[in-house]
Amino acid sequence: MDMTPISLEKTAMAAERPLELAVVLPTYNERKNIGGMVERLDKALAGIAWEVVIVDDNSPDGTADEARRLALADPRVRCIQRIGRRGLASAAIEGMCSTAAPVVAVMDADHQHDPELLPQMLAAVTSGDYDLAYASRFAEGSSTEEWGRPDRVKASGFANRLANKVTGVELSDPMSGYFMLRAELLRGDAHKLSGVGFKILLDILATVEQPLRVKELPMNFAARAEGESKLDQTVIFEFLIGLYDKWLGRIIPTRFALFGTVGAMGVVVQLGALWVMLHLVFGERFVYGNWSESTTFNVANTVAAVVAMSFNFVLNNELTYSDKRLRGFFPLLKGWAQFALTCALGLLTNVGSAYVLKTMIGLPAFVAVIAGIVLGSVWNFALSSKFVWGK
Ligand code: GDD
Ligand code: MN
Repeated sequence: MDMTPISLEKTAMAAERPLELAVVLPTYNERKNIGGMVERLDKALAGIAWEVVIVDDNSPDGTADEARRLALADPRVRCIQRIGRRGLASAAIEGMCSTAAPVVAVMDADHQHDPELLPQMLAAVTSGDYDLAYASRFAEGSSTEEWGRPDRVKASGFANRLANKVTGVELSDPMSGYFMLRAELLRGDAHKLSGVGFKILLDILATVEQPLRVKELPMNFAARAEGESKLDQTVIFEFLIGLYDKWLGRIIPTRFALFGTVGAMGVVVQLGALWVMLHLVFGERFVYGNWSESTTFNVANTVAAVVAMSFNFVLNNELTYSDKRLRGFFPLLKGWAQFALTCALGLLTNVGSAYVLKTMIGLPAFVAVIAGIVLGSVWNFALSSKFVWGK
């Protein structure tokens, strides 16, 4: 292993000067990018006492190992390896809370954000004129090298107007992932940040009590260096989820609300699929060949249930767990099978608890069935979030 000796100059600088700035890099599969990022930070932040906090969600490509390797060579590099959790927003929050630096920045680790902007941001937030500085992809003078993603730019117009309403601050790019602020502004309110999705800047602006004075810097949004994007382009959806989470998330957790909504849609899908099976596939008074009517019905309903279950699996994978989405043929197949098993257990819970509540406790049938559905869903949710989308 390449073990560069710890640079005396760097340690001395870290020891003699109080820390001025922490740069948080949330990472998921960025092993090939972080070494270069640390080098670029070193160049851009010459003369500033800084540290970088790499918050990695136990990436399969070994990003955390690479971060530790970098940290052995340079004490300004720190690594937080989170186990069993995923999500850009929560990683950014934990990184910002993990440092003693009076000023914190968050940026992408994939070289899409230019570290050369950091000194200007730092000057803005330490000048006393601004509380927060951020880099915008859509301000006058911005540019973007990312091609093939016009939907994101288009969607932003609407989302931005909504965002401005919510935060009361006019920003050309409230979804930006590149910003810096005085840490004290966050300390008291960090627990109010939602940690869902990736609209962390927007969340900070909406959460912090006093209106923040924001400095906007245009940026050139570069193309990603290595690897691929982990975020999807459903800006509007993420945004609405963020709003829900902020306002109602404490009453019914966002993920459970999504899971329940998807489940309710699954009921409609099952009914529709049953109709199609009976009318279009089997036909003729709902009897198939020499099967009896009840066999025909049971086969049709089983097919309909599997269709609905698969529909729920796909939708939960796309929406409810978009931040932990399973990709690729085999992970999807495995997830689907696990989800099917989960649903079977959920069904047992559903029917079993309704039975207990009705027959043994004596609740009215209707109440017992509803309670069974709720308990079955909670069970499905708990199991699938642990076993299907657990990592
Ligand atoms: N810890 C952690 N956990 N980090 C993550 C996760 C996660 O689940 N998902 C993504 N990241 C990290 C990536 O490794 C990268 O450093 C950074 O977050 C941005 O992720 P990308 O996957 O590169 O996002 P993008 O380029 O598609 O999205 C950009 O635009 C968004 C707004 O539309 C980024 O600038 C986002 O920050 C921005 O919100
Ligand atoms: Mn990126």
